[in-house]
Amino acid sequence: MALNPWAKNPWFETVTEAQRRAKKRLPKSVYSSLVAGTQAGVTLDDNVQAFNELGWAPHVVGAQPEREMTTSVMGQELSFPVMISPTGVQAVDPDGEVAVARAAAARGTAMGLSSFASHAVEEVTAVNDKVFFQIYWLGSREDILRRAERARAAGAKGLIVTTDWVFNVGRDWGSPEIPEKVNLKALVRLGPEIAVKPRYALDWVRGGKVIIPDLTAPNLTPQGVPGPTFFGAYGEWMGTPPPTWEDLQWLREQWGGPFMVKGITRLDDAKRAVDIGATAISVSNHGGNNLDGTPATIRLLPDIADAVGNDIEVLLDGGIRRGSDVAKALALGARAVMIGRAYLWGLAANGQAGVENVLDLMRMGLDGALMGLGHKSVNDLSADDLIIPDDFKRSFGHV
Ligand SMILES: Cc1cc2nc3c(=O)[nH]c(=O)nc-3n(C[C@H](O)[C@H](O)[C@H](O)COP(=O)(O)O)c2cc1C
Repeated sequence: MALNPWAKNPWFETVTEAQRRAKKRLPKSVYSSLVAGTQAGVTLDDNVQAFNELGWAPHVVGAQPEREMTTSVMGQELSFPVMISPTGVQAVDPDGEVAVARAAAARGTAMGLSSFASHAVEEVTAVNDKVFFQIYWLGSREDILRRAERARAAGAKGLIVTTDWVFNVGRDWGSPEIPEKVNLKALVRLGPEIAVKPRYALDWVRGGKVIIPDLTAPNLTPQGVPGPTFFGAYGEWMGTPPPTWEDLQWLREQWGGPFMVKGITRLDDAKRAVDIGATAISVSNHGGNNLDGTPATIRLLPDIADAVGNDIEVLLDGGIRRGSDVAKALALGARAVMIGRAYLWGLAANGQAGVENVLDLMRMGLDGALMGLGHKSVNDLSADDLIIPDDFKRSFGHV
């Protein structure tokens, strides 16, 4: 069949294009809730830009005909070292986390499922057997453990405990107003935004019925008990004293299985995570959603990986937009990376297929980097492959 050059191609060839399509498709407030970030967005931008400061030193002869990308994270085999970072706001697509979990399974990788997910953990583990349940510290120790046990019963293979969140941080470009209930008042307010995005509106109509759910967090209550509203849960979280290292150690011991501490930026904190017996850390600043001015995670990674890389699995998240970014993180000591906005934009642009598309772009870009560097495995990547500016790295919290 002849190719029709005018046919609309659902495939996108870069994450930038996925983002452009997401922006085009989503109502303004939904799109801006994905961009997120805090204050002036300095960290948000640095997370992405810092990757561009790193250059490559490619070989041009002797490329390997086949390149090996498999790895493992917290006991799960991954077909390549990219996994789904937990994100809470997936009102981008009616299937939300289930579509993302399917895409990750189709590409042989794992998924972090947010405490604030809009679908039940049982629905998500039914389509992907490599799910790590993410914990925010809200409610009592017993509440937290009960949620973890529910996730375990559903088949979750590990916990990701996210530690880096500060409340009350505005955005200079404004925060979207998100309705708690999709009632008439909300529809009247959001109507003009949604009216100009008819494809998005149609996604939420199935069998002639509007299927917009109220925003709830179904994984915070026992299975079958309706979850609190998103804002109710957020309020409880704000009212819960943040965890201490003793709390984290307690949860790690109670859980007894693979355990990641997400949000590490300092060397002393990386060492504390080792001391409490965590399996993994993610060097993360919550995608620029913690204190603005925290350096890009890729700047922090080299010294943290040097300090604890033999004692704990070191992952990185923040600013990954290309497969070559994945290669750079691996070259600087990460075992694997987690992606956030990149897959949310893919989900917004084209549902499950859009997330698969993003994962494919990551794989292809990583493969291209390995080829250009003459490596046959992700394990061959090292700082030697990179041109690193003198003032690139940051490290603090020396002990
Ligand atoms: C819209 C949005 C929602 C997020 N929700 C959560 C969450 O519920 N739990 C969590 O641990 N991290 C959450 N994160 C942080 C991501 O897991 C991840 O650290 C970050 O997105 C990585 O940066 P990147 O988006 O540049 O890839 C969220 C990030 C975004 C952008």
